[in-house]
Amino acid sequence: MTFAQTLAARAEQIDARLANLFVAGPAAASPARLRDAMRHALLGGGKRLRPLLVLETAKLFNVAAEDALATASAVECIHCYSLAHDDLPAMDNDEIRRGRPTVWKAFDEWTAVLAGDGLLTLAFEILADPATNPDPVVRSELVLLLASASGAAGMVGGQALDLAWEKLDHNAPPTPEDIRQLQSMKTGALISCACEMGAVLGRANEDARRAIRAYGSALGYAFQIADDLLDAEGDPAITGKAVAKDKALGKATLVDLWGPQRCRDVLAELQADCRNALAPFGASATTLLAAAEFVATRDR
Ligand code: IPE
Ligand code: IPE
Ligand code: MG
Ligand code: MG
Ligand code: MG
Repeated sequence: MTFAQTLAARAEQIDARLANLFVAGPAAASPARLRDAMRHALLGGGKRLRPLLVLETAKLFNVAAEDALATASAVECIHCYSLAHDDLPAMDNDEIRRGRPTVWKAFDEWTAVLAGDGLLTLAFEILADPATNPDPVVRSELVLLLASASGAAGMVGGQALDLAWEKLDHNAPPTPEDIRQLQSMKTGALISCACEMGAVLGRANEDARRAIRAYGSALGYAFQIADDLLDAEGDPAITGKAVAKDKALGKATLVDLWGPQRCRDVLAELQADCRNALAPFGASATTLLAAAEFVATRDR
């Protein structure tokens, strides 16, 4: 199986799980317009890379996909909420995502804000549910990890830095370290968290968790550099979103600072970092290794 096939198969599993949240799950009872907007944000596209990372890391520690699916779906709820808010006029002002109108375009701004809020809260409702994992210690560890990765010292903080660099006056342009910090918070934290949650489900020891965190952190950094490269040079028919926005908005990116070739060199270095971090796991980490290659070379 190629990595693309594995990703597609995992996406099918996760899509079914996500769709069910609106049928038999906790989102079934929400008001129709809000529910439709949450469905729009969550379903109908998306690579489902973060859920795949939960499932594959869990598998490394002998957890069956079935027992990791709920956790994987919680991470995707956070990711999709972040996109619904990221696209708002007050933030990146985007009209197309996953080849479709963004949530605020398809509905309106207040509905997109509330749909994001609903998905954010839903993620924690899923994690706190005993059906997700029978062990309350595991559940509370998952909640803590996801909260800190997605909160003000993680993703939300990274979004704040991203927008502050874009919208506020600064005395000097961002340094590579400034950009590294904003990227590791806005994108790296959730990706690394997805990996670590698989390790929590598998009750991995501290050495293994450290290795998984090192992998997740290199992978997350690479993911955002690749995203910025796709904004500069990608094909909107493949990425499903507008291109050439970052430069126009004045976003702080390494592509802007260093140019595409140096970014591609850094991506190759980060892929090597991922390989090194996974070395202790040998052949059982083949899919995670392939995920690193995908992230560094992706066109979508
Ligand atoms: C896009 O994430 C936003 C970033 C964090 C860079 P993805 O590229 O994973 O978006 P989908 O879920 O596949 O649409
Ligand atoms: C989004 O980064 C990061 C989060 C939503 C946390 P971008 O703004 O670069 O993502 P795209 O390019 O709109 O997908
Ligand atoms: Mg943004
Ligand atoms: Mg954006
Ligand atoms: Mg982008």
